[in-house]
Amino acid sequence: MTDASGAQQQALRLRGGVAVITGAASGIGSGLARKALSLGMRVVLADVQEAALRDFAATLRGEVLAVPTDVSDAASVERLAQRAYAEFGAVDVLFNNAGVLTTGFSWEIEPERWKRSLDINFNGVLHGLRSFVPRLLQAARPAHIVNTSSVGGFLPSPLMAPYSVSKFAVLALSESLRAELEMLQAPIGVSLLAPGPVKTGIFNNPFGAHAGTAAQAFVDNMRGMLEQHGLTPDEFAGPVFEGIAAGRYWLIPQPEAFDDLFRQRNEDIMARRNPRMPW
Ligand SMILES: NC(=O)c1ccc[n+]([C@@H]2O[C@H](COP(=O)([O-])OP(=O)(O)OC[C@H]3O[C@@H](n4cnc5c(N)ncnc54)[C@H](O)[C@@H]3O)[C@@H](O)[C@H]2O)c1
Repeated sequence: MTDASGAQQQALRLRGGVAVITGAASGIGSGLARKALSLGMRVVLADVQEAALRDFAATLRGEVLAVPTDVSDAASVERLAQRAYAEFGAVDVLFNNAGVLTTGFSWEIEPERWKRSLDINFNGVLHGLRSFVPRLLQAARPAHIVNTSSVGGFLPSPLMAPYSVSKFAVLALSESLRAELEMLQAPIGVSLLAPGPVKTGIFNNPFGAHAGTAAQAFVDNMRGMLEQHGLTPDEFAGPVFEGIAAGRYWLIPQPEAFDDLFRQRNEDIMARRNPRMPW
């Protein structure tokens, strides 16, 4: 079947185009930024950690704009959009990438940590859409939006329920968005990015520090797996940009971390079998 947004992606401008990346100061965002620059893009880096953002921007060559941004704050994301358009006049690719991990037993995680997790991982994406989609529609030229979920957005995991919940929400939002843009025949492609293990600092996040012994053991185990099997952010960024250029909706660059578990889960659902431990 021909994919309308896929056809429109052929005209998407990468070289000379503008990429906006949230959560750009470290990890996957930093790899996407380096890759975008290597493709000749101009890059807007957004992150809540101002010093890290400034330091990272200083390591890059090319046209870079660093905008301190808290994606959980709609006004802050709106200022990011204003700065990006004021500086570069257009946006070609938006990466709603910023995210945090929150660990612990779901009933013990305090409401404030639940809220913060959903505010960053889900509302951060929503704020990105609310500020950028109207501008992209107004520009009426090919563009692409990449929303970052996770393998954990398909496979609920113990001890990180706020993460799973927020990443499932990103999955649903992205498919709704894609269908809506198709209904409007807008030249804006959408991708759902589901990383497997990528070697970043996500398991060092401060929310994990208060999570209790069970969660700490879980985090240590995940960190070990990450170190052993994870891709580096630079290795990960290559297939992401290939997928964007091909107009692919499902960006799941590490099938080895996904396919068997996903197939097993779907088969269990179809057979009405009780869920198993995913990892
Ligand atoms: N690393 C993995 O193995 C992995 C796996 C699946 C999904 N992901 C997803 O990839 C994305 C990037 O994660 P990462 O692994 O690079 O983590 P990371 O911790 O290295 O980077 C996340 C960045 O987001 C920034 N950030 C946090 N809160 C923010 C806010 N409120 N506003 C703006 N920026 C904020 C942080 O400062 C940091 O620079 C996340 O959405 C994460 O859930 C990562």
